[in-house]
This record gives sequence, structure tokens and C-alpha cells, in this order.
Amino acid sequence: MKVSEVRKKYLEFCKKNNHVIVPSDSLIPSNDSTTLFTGSGMQPQIPFLLGEEHPKGKRIANSQKCIRVEDIDEVGDNRHTTFFEMLGNWSFGDYFKKEQLTWIFEFLVDEIKLDPEKIYVTCFIGDKSNDIPQDFESAEIWKELFKEKGIDAKIVELGTEAQGYKKGMNDGRIFYYGAQKNWWSRSGRPDQMPVGELGGPDSEIFYDFGTKHDTSFGMHCHPNCDCGRFMELGNSVFMEYIKNEKGLFELLPQKNVDFGGGLERLAAASNDDPDMYNVDALKNIIENIEKISKVDSKEKVFKCRVIADHMRGAVHMISDGVEPSNKEQGYVLRRLLRRAIFYATQIGFEHGDISKLVPPVINYYEKAYPSIKEKEEKIISEVKEEEDKFQKTLEHGLKKLEKMLKEDGEISGKDAFILFTTYGFPIEMTLEVVKDKGLKVDEKMYNIEFEKHRELSRTASAGKFKGGLADSSEQTTALHTCTHLMLAGLRKELGDEVHQVGSNITAQRTRFDFTYSKKVERDVLDRVEEYVNDAIKNSAKVCLNKMSKEEAKKSGVEGSFWEKYPDTVNVYTVEDKKGNVYSQELCGGPHLDDLSVIKDKKFKILKEKSSSSGVRRIKAVLN
Ligand code: ALA
Repeated sequence: MKVSEVRKKYLEFCKKNNHVIVPSDSLIPSNDSTTLFTGSGMQPQIPFLLGEEHPKGKRIANSQKCIRVEDIDEVGDNRHTTFFEMLGNWSFGDYFKKEQLTWIFEFLVDEIKLDPEKIYVTCFIGDKSNDIPQDFESAEIWKELFKEKGIDAKIVELGTEAQGYKKGMNDGRIFYYGAQKNWWSRSGRPDQMPVGELGGPDSEIFYDFGTKHDTSFGMHCHPNCDCGRFMELGNSVFMEYIKNEKGLFELLPQKNVDFGGGLERLAAASNDDPDMYNVDALKNIIENIEKISKVDSKEKVFKCRVIADHMRGAVHMISDGVEPSNKEQGYVLRRLLRRAIFYATQIGFEHGDISKLVPPVINYYEKAYPSIKEKEEKIISEVKEEEDKFQKTLEHGLKKLEKMLKEDGEISGKDAFILFTTYGFPIEMTLEVVKDKGLKVDEKMYNIEFEKHRELSRTASAGKFKGGLADSSEQTTALHTCTHLMLAGLRKELGDEVHQVGSNITAQRTRFDFTYSKKVERDVLDRVEEYVNDAIKNSAKVCLNKMSKEEAKKSGVEGSFWEKYPDTVNVYTVEDKKGNVYSQELCGGPHLDDLSVIKDKKFKILKEKSSSSGVRRIKAVLN
């Protein structure tokens, strides 16, 4: 099956089961700076999983564009990609385990015609230390579902991966694993979750390609083994817990379902072919690469896969507004493009050829994501520009490399790492250059440096994660309301050019990015502060209104991400008793109801600086 067929079938299936189909959110999480990229379909749904009413109802579904950067070094095998689409369906306090597992099994077996004999599932074994029970219910539901297909599904308890490698399949079909494998939250296991984060036990579905087990992964194979025999197709998360201030797990007011399935993986399984790069969405790019590449090279298959994956991801990123730079999303984009260009050069691409891969990607995706076509010119010019810049960097980097070689007679692992971080010289490139001179690089040391760096950036992103509005304490909520007032104040002072680009709010401060081309002078910031404090002094109230998007746009409501919102939108208005309207903005909440609860506090803008081209950043506090 083609990717587009599987996507269509899934969305039609969800529709038949009374879900409303919503569009994919952007790859840059629109109102949540807690992660760099949207990495799962649930991220835009958090307010509704927490209990806010979704304007489209209690059942929604979509196909969400995702980027998982963690997998970048795995790309090149037959199953890892950085960009992918996640099929998702959600129940906001509506249906639960029975319906979800029944439907997804029906979809796999009856709609995309997978052989039920090749399907294996996992369930949560429970977590005594956090008082979370074993999920017997899901296992029993699965047993029944398999029975209906004439399969006697044996239940096996594995617990950990290590146990899995030790015990093996044991004729099982339904496997219990612990929190490492069968618990889902944005931040991982229960003990890794910050206060206020939501999560739950999950049930994963695996497809058995029947390939021989590779014992270098462990003695025996089991569904979570990475040898390539099993591929995870989807995950039904039973999102019903939240971590409270005491670190305990409380039940949410509603029981939710958060299902995510890998679209390309489902297509690969429907073709019974473990190589995801044979799925049309990727094969199409690979064929185009082969047309341009005129030379054979060692590891050509690997290189073509990396180029195909990275170019597909890069095209989608640029389409969603990312530009190559040295930080955050821009850095990831730069890395993807440069790796793709480097490998492309090795298989015979000439300068300028890489941008020829943009139109095939766009042509493939324009039906599902029409806005990508409108950006074609911009995407091509960004790719070309980055290629030119890379060319120059390469010259610099090469000089530095030569110098290092001359001085030390070798390239140490640390040198290779410096070449990568400071000169944008990927390790693959250093290895090639050094090899030509009959020398070697200490890759082990390089990897140690790299891991250190990775650990640091993980820590940074974990820290970043906690910073979002996921924390719903009163102080954070108050700063969120003040952030609305500040935006209204900025627009009043600086005009309509100002819009929100992103925000990151903790109990300590708000960090707010907005569009504006110049420095904002202190006297302007003072007046904006005064505007916010005035609303506080007058005990303004916040009210939530639902209205049609058209109506909201017409009445001048401020909002930056209109396209991601449904037809009916939430508008938060801050207004005092005399009827002065301070702010009216599209938002998912939460907000204070009444500013009199912070009447003893003052809002203060501490810093204003450039964030990126055309974007300013403010740091402000409420004390
Ligand atoms: N949110 C779940 C996942 O990403 C479905 O696996």
C-alpha cells in the first residue's frame, strides 16, 4: 500500500467511528516552547487531555507531521527516519480501552489487511513504587480479539528488556513489560515526569517480519528487541494520570485515549517488507537521487537513505518556517541539510544538484499538505543558500583540519568533535579526508565527546520541557495572563507588526518572543509594564468566549496560529468593571479568572533583546 492510501483509510475509518478529523499542527510546536519539534500527535492536544472542552467534540483524529531528532544517527538502516507522520486518534474522556483496542485491531486486520498471526502486543505490568496497577484489562481484551481470529494468544510476563532477551518469546503473543516500555508521557517513565505532567500505561502493537533473530542484540528475540524482526506499529496510551505536587499519581478527571501509529511503518507492514525506504514516500525520493547520482560509491544504499530522509525532513521544516541557523530548530535543519549535501557530493552530485530534490518531495506531499506547494520557491532558495554557505565553511574547516594534522600528525577524537561543533564539519567528512591521507581518527574518543554533548543537550531539553505551561500553578497561570496583557500593550505601543512567535512560562518568569524589526526602547517597555499593571490595579476579569474563527478575526482578536485552530475558537478577554478591554486573544488557556488575586504584585520587564532575525525576546517577572 502507498502511504497516501494508508493515511486515507485510517482517517476514513476514524470518521466512520465518529471522530472529527483535524489538520496537522506545525512541526514547530505553535504555542509550546517545551520541545523543539512536534514529536507526537498528542502535543497539540494537551489542554483537551487535561479536561478543556475541544470545540470539535470528544473524538478527534489526524495525521500529524513529526520530527524526532534523537534518531538522526540511526538513519541509514532500514527503519529509522527523522521525519515521519503519526496517525492519531484521541478520546477526551469518551471511549476507553475496549473500543480503542477493538478498533485498532480491526483497522490493522480488516482495513490494511495485516495477517493477525504476525501481530504481537504488549501491556503494562504495573508499577508498585508509584501505586499504579497492572493493566489486566487490556491483556484480556487482546486475548478475546485474537480468539475471534482463531488465535489462542498466550500471555507472557517479561517485565524488563533484559528479561526479554533471557526468556524469549515462550510462545507468547501478549507480553507484559514495565514502565520502561509500557508507560507513556512526554518525558518518559513515571519517575522522570515533572509535577503537573500527564501520562499513562500503554499497549503497543508489533509486526513480525519473520526475519532471523540476530543474537548480537541478546540471546533470544522478543517484541521489544531491536534486531529487526519486530517493528512497532502503534501505541494506545491510556492517558489517565497526572503527577501531583507531592509527586504522587492522581487520576485525571477524565479517562483519555491517545493513540499514535507510524504511518510509514504501517505502509511497510502492509507490504510485508521490513525496509521502510521501499515505501513510496521515500522510494520516490531515492529514485530521484539515483537519477542525479552518476557514480557508484561504497555504502551507496546507506547514503541514499540518509539523503532521502534528511531532504524530506528539511523540506517540511522550511515549509513550516524554520531557517538554517546555529541554534535550536535552525541548527537541526542545518545539520540535516549539510549531512545530505555531504553524502550527495560523495555519490556524484554537483554543486546545485541537491535543490533538485525539493520538487519531488513537494509534489509528493502537496495533496496532503497543500501549503507546502506555496513555499516551493522559498524552500529551493533556502537549500541553495545553505549549500553555498556550506561550501565556504568546508574550505575553512579543511584548512583547520590540515593545520591540526600538521601540528599533531593526527586528528584526535576531540579535534574531530571540535571540527564538527565549531566548523560544521560532520564526522563522516573528517573520516573521509583523513582516510585519504592514510590516517585514522580516534572514533571512540569522538563518540565519548559526542555522548557528553548529547547528554548535556538532553539535560537542556529536559529542563526546557519543564518550563512550559504544562505546570498549571497559580503563579505560572498569572504570568500567562500577564503575557497576554503585555502583548496587547506591545501592539498598542508598536503597532500591528507585533505578533507572538513563541512563549515559555514558568512560575519565575515569562519569556516571550514576538515579531518586531528593531530594538524596543526602555521608555516603551515602561509604558507596556504600566499597561499590564493598570489592568492588575483595576482588578480586571478574564472571560472565555467561544466564537467562530471568522467572527474572531473580524472583531480584531489577536492570534498568531489561526490555521491550527478549529472553526470555533476560544477567545480570552481581559476587561475591567468599567468596560475597558485590555486584551483579546486566541488561546488554549489556562488563565486567572480575576486579576484581583495578584493585586499586590507588580509586573516588570527585565530584558529585551534580539532572538533571531526579525524576532525580539522579552523576559519579564511578576513579584
Ligand atoms: N503519544 C504516543 C506516542 O507518541 C501515542 O507514542
